[in-house]
Amino acid sequence: QLAFTRPPFLAPYKTGINPLDGKPQNFYNVTQKAATASLVPGLKTRILGYNGIFPGPTISIDQGTHAVVTMRNQLPKAHPDFGTPMATSTHLHGSASLPQYDGYASDTTLPGFRKDYHYPNFQPARTLWYHDHGVHYTAQNAYSGLVAMYQIHDPAERALLPQGEFDVPLMVSDIQLRADGNANYDDHNHSGLWGDINLVNGVPWPVMKVKRRIYRFRVLVCGISRSFRFKLSTGEPLTVVATDGGLMPRAIPVAQYRHANSERYEVLIDFSKYRAGQRIELQNVSNPNNIEFGNTRRVMAFDVTDDAFDRNDPTALTLPTVLANSSPMQLTRAMAKATRRLRVERQNGEWKINGMSWADVIASNFQKVIANPGANDVEIWEIENKSGGWFHPVHIHLVDFHILSRNGQRPFSYEEGPKDVMYVGENETVQAIMRFEHQKGRYMVHCHNLPHEDHDMMLQFRVGLLQG
Ligand code: C2O
Ligand code: CU
Repeated sequence: QLAFTRPPFLAPYKTGINPLDGKPQNFYNVTQKAATASLVPGLKTRILGYNGIFPGPTISIDQGTHAVVTMRNQLPKAHPDFGTPMATSTHLHGSASLPQYDGYASDTTLPGFRKDYHYPNFQPARTLWYHDHGVHYTAQNAYSGLVAMYQIHDPAERALLPQGEFDVPLMVSDIQLRADGNANYDDHNHSGLWGDINLVNGVPWPVMKVKRRIYRFRVLVCGISRSFRFKLSTGEPLTVVATDGGLMPRAIPVAQYRHANSERYEVLIDFSKYRAGQRIELQNVSNPNNIEFGNTRRVMAFDVTDDAFDRNDPTALTLPTVLANSSPMQLTRAMAKATRRLRVERQNGEWKINGMSWADVIASNFQKVIANPGANDVEIWEIENKSGGWFHPVHIHLVDFHILSRNGQRPFSYEEGPKDVMYVGENETVQAIMRFEHQKGRYMVHCHNLPHEDHDMMLQFRVGLLQG
C-alpha cells in the first residue's frame, strides 16, 4: 500500500506591513498549470494544479495577517482532457473576503492573465480551502486538481488542539481513470460523478504511520460529488472539535458522521489506546444516493508505531472538552429580521433554486438577487429539498451560520459548530441562522455538488443597499 503524504506548505515570497491598518501582510505566488501526476503506480494522469501539483500547496497563516495571493492562469486555452474552456476564478472557501476577491463565478481570469486576491484573515482559526469557481466548468476544473487547503491559526486553537506534525490535512476525493491513466468525466447527466478510486491528499488508500498519542485531522472532502460517512474500523469514536468555521462549542465523540463535499470537520483520533503494530482503518459507511464501487468504503489506514513523542505536549494524551463559543452560536430566532425559503428542484435536467438558476443571474446582467439583507442583519434561511433522490451540500458565501433544525428536529450533535455548508439530505428541510456581517456586496449561494452548481444551481444575494 502507498504511503500517506501531505501537501507542501507555501512560503510567502515577501512579507511586510499593510499600509492601511499597520497589520502584517504576506505575499504569495500561485500558478495554475497543467501537469502530470502519478496517482496510481505505473500510470500517468494529466492534472491541473495550483503550482502544478494536486492537491495544491497549503497556505497556513495567523489570524490578523493579511494575504495577497497573485494567481496566474497559465493553463492551456482548453481543458486537455475534456475540451472545456480554462477561464478560472479562485474562491477561498470559508473566508469573508471582499466581493471582488471572492471568486465570483463569472469574474474569470483567462489563460495568460493573472489576478491578485486579497484575503483579510480576521476570522477565528479554521480550515479553509481554495478551489476553482469558473462559471459552468467548476466541476471539471476542481476534479482535475484545482483544490488546495488554507489554514488560519489563532491562540485559542493553538492552546487546545494538536499542532505541527500532529495537525494533519486529510483532503479526500474520488476519481475514475481510463485505461490510459487519464481521468474520465461522467456526471450522469449532471447528477454527480462517483469515482471508484478514493484519494487522500492525492494518494489512493494511503497508510499513515502514527505515534501512540492524539492526532488532529482536518478532514475536507474535496471531490466533486461524493459524500462520505466516516468511521473507524475499531468502532472507537472520532472526536469532532471543529466544523467549517472553526471550533465547536465542545468536543463531540461520534461513532460515525456524514460529511459532504466541501464541508470541513476537524476530528481527533486517540491512538494511545492501541498497541504498536496495530492497523486501524478509516472507513466510509456510505450514504444514500452515492454510487459505491469495490473499494469506495475504504479511505485510508493508520499503522500504530512505538515512535517517541513529547509527553509534555498538553494535547498529546488528553482530549479537550470545552472549546469555544463562536459568534453564530449566539444568534437566536428572535434576532432574525427575515426567514427566507429556498426550494431545490430539478427541471429538464437542470437544477434550480426557487425556479431560478445562474443563467437567470447572467440574463439580468448580474442584478437579480434572491435576498438583499441589510448590513449586519440576522436572517434565517430554510432550504427545502424535495428534489427526489438527491442530497445537496448548500454553501452560502461570506457568512458562518448555525444550523437550527433538520425537519424541525435538532441538528446532529457534530454540526453544532459554525458552518458554511449545510448537508441538505433527501427530503430534508434545514434551517440555519446567520448574520450578514463583515462585507457588503454580491455573493453566491449554490449547491457544492459541482455538476449541480454548474447546471445551474447557483444564485446570489446582496448585502447592503445599492447606492443611488
Ligand atoms: Cu467551495 Cu462557492 O464554493
Ligand atoms: Cu445539489
